[in-house]
Amino acid sequence: MKIAIIGTGYVGLTTAVVLAYLNHDVAAVDKDEGKLNLLHEGKSPIHEPGIQSLLTEVQHTIRFTPSVADVVPEAELILIAVGTPPKKNGEADTQHVEQAAKEVAQVCLPDRHYTLVVKSTVPIGTNQRVAEVVASVFSERGLRGNVSIASNPEFLQEGLALQGAFYPDRIVVGANSDEAIDTLRRLYKPILEQTFDPPSEFPRPSAYPLPPMMTTDPNSAEMIKYAANTFLALKISFINEIAGLCEEVEADVTEVARGIGLDARIGSRFLQAGLGWGGSCYPKDTAALLGVAAQSGYRMPITEAARTVNFRQRERVVEKLHNALGTLNGKTVGILGLAFKPNTDDVREAPALDIVRALIAAGATVRAHDPIAIANARRALSGLQTPTTENQTNNRLSFTEDVYELPYDADALVLITEWDFYHRLELRRLAKQMKTPILIDGRNVYSPEEARAAGFHYIGIGRF
Ligand code: UGA
Repeated sequence: MKIAIIGTGYVGLTTAVVLAYLNHDVAAVDKDEGKLNLLHEGKSPIHEPGIQSLLTEVQHTIRFTPSVADVVPEAELILIAVGTPPKKNGEADTQHVEQAAKEVAQVCLPDRHYTLVVKSTVPIGTNQRVAEVVASVFSERGLRGNVSIASNPEFLQEGLALQGAFYPDRIVVGANSDEAIDTLRRLYKPILEQTFDPPSEFPRPSAYPLPPMMTTDPNSAEMIKYAANTFLALKISFINEIAGLCEEVEADVTEVARGIGLDARIGSRFLQAGLGWGGSCYPKDTAALLGVAAQSGYRMPITEAARTVNFRQRERVVEKLHNALGTLNGKTVGILGLAFKPNTDDVREAPALDIVRALIAAGATVRAHDPIAIANARRALSGLQTPTTENQTNNRLSFTEDVYELPYDADALVLITEWDFYHRLELRRLAKQMKTPILIDGRNVYSPEEARAAGFHYIGIGRF
């Protein structure tokens, strides 16, 4: 099938590469020249396990272009996967989606039928709005409508994006036309029937059941995306709230999570207590859902509470550090992990950013490590490295690529991102170099006994 994808971010690029791997004829559009230059050289602009090798494998069958007019007229199916950044009031801004729809409608050929699919995460009612935008361009052009609109929300997790694309739990399609549903069923046939040869890096999981394609109306499909993310976000916030109480009553939240997760109705995934959620999805999508609710005059206290609990985790860790050290002023703190989660260099809404800012504001000196996210974190925190004199920057924030430089003269270490690499650290070597060997394990990565045996004063989340 001839497919045009608008946007080459995490969703657009992953989808493009996977659909090309499944032998579809894929062209992807992006206006960002820097990204396009990289893609033309066969390089992935995003860090995602496996994407580079898959891109290399399909690069001769996939086209990248800045022009919608180059690829849309000949396409049968057009996927919109552009960003929906938050507005100041938290609502998702759909202007890029609408603009993309407009540009698509301007170049559609009158004698062809198209299926236009919205993959971006959008407020409920956006598909309807996209249909109106398309209809208005068509009427300006004096043409009759020949575009079916569908919602096809994406559920990929950063760091696991390709795995999720080849082996999804489900595919959701919201459409009012049978034609659009049939086209999407044809698009996803190799995935729905698992008829493709798995790429070597992504073998089919054993006992993987064929995924269902659920069809529904567009508004419900849009709501499914927000409800899924909000539910996962509140599951994490729930266990973090329990973790706080565990600390008060000397219970161990990892044991509690194990015990409740064994109940099949609850399930064990997304019950890891820690520093809470960050990234480009849960913070933005929970706020956007509250925005949708506010427009209807409806209150969502559970969603509000999930956000409150989540952001409190970041403050609580700074309080813990303060309590352990007496003061933060003049202390040196080493940070293990800047990315919002492992296997990505993404620091958007990462807990590390708020924690570093709070530590610097309290007068501490911060030295931070991450296996791959230093460049992005440096950019995100650049405001903190304010020049003190003409050539000198404020050196209370620095970054190191050598994790064993972190503890040197440090008063405490805080683990923020649970990279696999940190599981294998020589704890004794780290503790030995520190002024005071305090370890705040923000993701409960280490066993308290092991850390204490290595010489640390160990403080986890919801453990004693
Ligand atoms: C999330 C959803 O999992 C995807 O299904 C969805 O498609 C995506 O948002 C999106 O809307 O685009 P993502 O944000 O990439 O994916 O990452 P998650 O793996 O869900 O983790 C989000 C945050 O929750 C991370 O900061 C992680 O550290 C935290 N988390 C996760 C916990 O604190 N505890 C857990 O048990 C699990």
